[in-house]
Amino acid sequence: MTRIGVLVSGGGTNLQALIDNEKAGKIPHGKICLVVASNDKAYALERAAKAGIPSAAVRRKDYSDQDAYDEALVSVLKEHDIEMVILAGFLSILGPRFIQAYPDRIINIHPALIPSFCGKGYYGLKVHEAALAKGVKVTGATVHLVNEIPDGGRILLQKAVEVQDGDTPEILQRRVMEQAEWILLPKAAEMLAEMIEEEKQS
Ligand code: GAR
Repeated sequence: MTRIGVLVSGGGTNLQALIDNEKAGKIPHGKICLVVASNDKAYALERAAKAGIPSAAVRRKDYSDQDAYDEALVSVLKEHDIEMVILAGFLSILGPRFIQAYPDRIINIHPALIPSFCGKGYYGLKVHEAALAKGVKVTGATVHLVNEIPDGGRILLQKAVEVQDGDTPEILQRRVMEQAEWILLPKAAEMLAEMIEEEKQS
């Protein structure tokens, strides 16, 4: 069973989708063993507590630089023997030190069809504001492996979602979550966990 750590910053609806899918037996090769928040007020921490999953808050402002922050995150993950990391609405920046500690073992969900509306500055509602400002008729979500280029790692899964007349960023965000993110992220989690288990056995 691959030991999964989930990194969060906010409401944690994607974390909830992972928890629900694991409970339903849809992530048979993985187990969520730790939730780490970049913010100690994140509602995601309550979701972890309700599901009986250990959690920690590691705040960027408590560390002098990116390396020290990366180091703190890696050390809490290693303490829990985490083998694979899911960024589920984690809005703090991760540096090379973190990424090199988990090569090809980190996935991220992005609320647009990469390469649209991605990279530095595109996170959360800002992504949907940009999509509406551009007037695209189709948007969606992407799960990708994380490397040192923001939103630049190999794409694992994508799903398109229609933009409708009268959408606000909030309405569009909700539709993208319901129709794409909450489906894709658990699926990608199982894909990577299964690959890790196969590698362990070979
Ligand atoms: C989600 O829409 C996720 O795709 C996005 O933040 C939201 C978190 O919601 N992530 C990014 O924008 C990363 N660049 P949640 O806390 O309810 O899962």
